[in-house]
Amino acid sequence: MSTIYQATASAPVNIAVIKYWGKRDTKLILPTNSSLSVTLDQDHLRSTTTSRADPSFERDQLWLNGKEDEIKPGSRLETCITEMKRLRKEYEDQNPNEPKAISLLISSYKVHIASYNNFPTAAGLASSASGFAALVASLAQLYNLPASPSTLSLIARQGSGSACRSLFGGFVAWQMGSDPSGSDSLAVQVAPQEHWPQMHALICVVSDDKKGTSSTSGMQRTVETSTLLQHRIKDVVPWRMEKISKAILERDFDTFARITMADSNQFHAVALDTEPPIFYMNDVSRAIIALIVEYNRLSVEAGKGYKAAYTYDAGPNAVIYALEENIKEIVQLIVSYFPQKPGEFKDVWGIFGESAADLNTHASLPQGFNSAVAKKFEVGAVKGLIHTRVGDGPRKLGPEESLLAENGLPK
Ligand code: DP6
Repeated sequence: MSTIYQATASAPVNIAVIKYWGKRDTKLILPTNSSLSVTLDQDHLRSTTTSRADPSFERDQLWLNGKEDEIKPGSRLETCITEMKRLRKEYEDQNPNEPKAISLLISSYKVHIASYNNFPTAAGLASSASGFAALVASLAQLYNLPASPSTLSLIARQGSGSACRSLFGGFVAWQMGSDPSGSDSLAVQVAPQEHWPQMHALICVVSDDKKGTSSTSGMQRTVETSTLLQHRIKDVVPWRMEKISKAILERDFDTFARITMADSNQFHAVALDTEPPIFYMNDVSRAIIALIVEYNRLSVEAGKGYKAAYTYDAGPNAVIYALEENIKEIVQLIVSYFPQKPGEFKDVWGIFGESAADLNTHASLPQGFNSAVAKKFEVGAVKGLIHTRVGDGPRKLGPEESLLAENGLPK
């Protein structure tokens, strides 16, 4: 039996606290500003990808969640696969005396790739970031490349901008760079996961019945029509990047929260400043903002500074960053306004013990909370709560986790 050349990797989701919104080069995916994100734990949300190279394969093929996804010429997918093969070819050319490289000119083989997200696409959580990061990580492993995560981020970036930040765990900056070739537009780690493991996140999955504007088309419309975006790019993001990086290094949650919320607000302001205007948040999103604002007001009054930070991407879901010690109180607050369908919540940290199944019995407001800041919604307005935390970068998985069967087709 001939050897199977195959690798499986998983990669995390990341949620930006300084938002990427706008490209200066749409083909290379070069942004108009730097951005910064927190990588979320793959134990809860991840994409897994298996790649195999084989001389018997007739063409490159990819399956996403079991369904074949066409690799169109000139597509982002094709670019990423081609770029990874190019890196492998370079490696083969540079190591002609390495027996492995001589016998294995696998850069010329076609590949089969199977990818799977462990969270439903319908949840509206960015799957392209973890998806492209897992694709690039699995190919790097298959090709045995000595490439650093920053080098791989240059390729993942060309799949989806935000994907470049999923090549690292912890707190990650995407430096916009200035070279027209894109060679300096890459991700770097600001701090590893272990630096601030108390950083947790509560994702409020908000129902969305309308088809929103995609990030890709929305951000280009903003670039073309928003004057506010120019102010954001020139006068706001540069100092915010500095200030939030420092806050992370100093584990200064209050500053981290203030900048995170201000930047989410400004991103949605430039969306509104687009012609025609783009709205990503809905009434539920805005009610969650009102709750967090009131929650922080109380905390500041008690001399403790901000204890929670909301942020929203190109959809109505809220991601609330908070320190582990405050998550219980925040869940209790959220369920007071957004009752949950019993049995849905995964209490992965055992905060509520056996009674987690009916989270609604835990509804309660902090002392002094002005309950009139929002109205109580129906069950299903927030259709799920995911409690997760800062996590690690792409993982190498064993053959038992392969998504491809022996015949090279998805399992
Ligand atoms: C609002 O990375 O999805 O989530 O590069 O066109 O694929 P493309 O866009 P994408 O945009 C993400 C936008 C955002 C902010 C962020 O993640 O920084």
